[in-house]
Amino acid sequence: MNAKTKLCCLIGQPVEHSLSPLIHNTIAQKMGMNLVYTAFDVDPHKLENAILGAVALGFLGLNVTVPHKCNVIPYLKQIDPLAESIGAVNTLVAVPGGYCGYNTDIIGLERQLIDEGVILKANDIIIIGAGGASKAITYLCASRGARRIYLLNRTLEKAEALAEEVNHSFGDIVIPYQIQDYTKIPKGKYAVIQTSSVGLFPNIDQAPIEEDEFYKLVDKGIDIIFNPGTTKFMEKCKEAGAEAYNGLKMLLYQGIAAFELWNHVKVSKELADEILETMKKEMNT
Ligand code: ATR
Repeated sequence: MNAKTKLCCLIGQPVEHSLSPLIHNTIAQKMGMNLVYTAFDVDPHKLENAILGAVALGFLGLNVTVPHKCNVIPYLKQIDPLAESIGAVNTLVAVPGGYCGYNTDIIGLERQLIDEGVILKANDIIIIGAGGASKAITYLCASRGARRIYLLNRTLEKAEALAEEVNHSFGDIVIPYQIQDYTKIPKGKYAVIQTSSVGLFPNIDQAPIEEDEFYKLVDKGIDIIFNPGTTKFMEKCKEAGAEAYNGLKMLLYQGIAAFELWNHVKVSKELADEILETMKKEMNT
């Protein structure tokens, strides 16, 4: 580090277990860039001060995580149109006098889906959950031309509200169901994206849907949870003969997309794969 070191950081609460510093500092080191990335625990009441401070100190870029992804929007100079329609940002890129907000969570998921061979265009998809993460993912699937999206949620009203919002922009493609009504989905094999918080550490013995019957619908199951590395949802997908993936790649790729936006560089597939292995090891320690 010296007087020319560029600064990037994560703001959120809590942040102490974040893998983002590992991702960004490894990329910077491997690509020979003079950049340091750290994490700050920012109280929601001090969010505006944190952004003003970052502008004043000339931070090149920030990542934003829970609980600030929506609340940070009023403090931005600009916002990317997709991030604006989702209503959440996770990456801030320096522009004159402030930051432009992006949602690289979505870019991350899209890259992961491509890696796992999930084709959105003209296909039917099942999404479990209707919270903040689901909103971004439902927008992604709709904007990439999914034919039909079956949106399953414990609280039907939330699924209905999200369906209405997305359908308003993309036509009648999202069909909301109460989670137990998965039986109404036409028989077939689907990519299923699990976005609910069910199964997240420490509640590792829970799955959003317990019945084996549901898992007969799964061709590929993608859980956005990465702690634990194998969720009960993933186990049940595998038991039913489906492929199953956790959210670690999505996390990695959202970081890579942010790094690329900040530095105008391309991170190689080889380096991405190397960092993924390091992240897996870190998760097991
Ligand atoms: P995030 O931003 O991570 O998506 P969120 O907005 O709080 O978090 O959404 C959490 C999601 O997990 C919601 O879909 C929630 O269902 P409800 O809308 O019915 O609350 C779902 N969820 C959380 N706990 C659940 C549980 N025990 N069973 C089923 N779904 C659950």
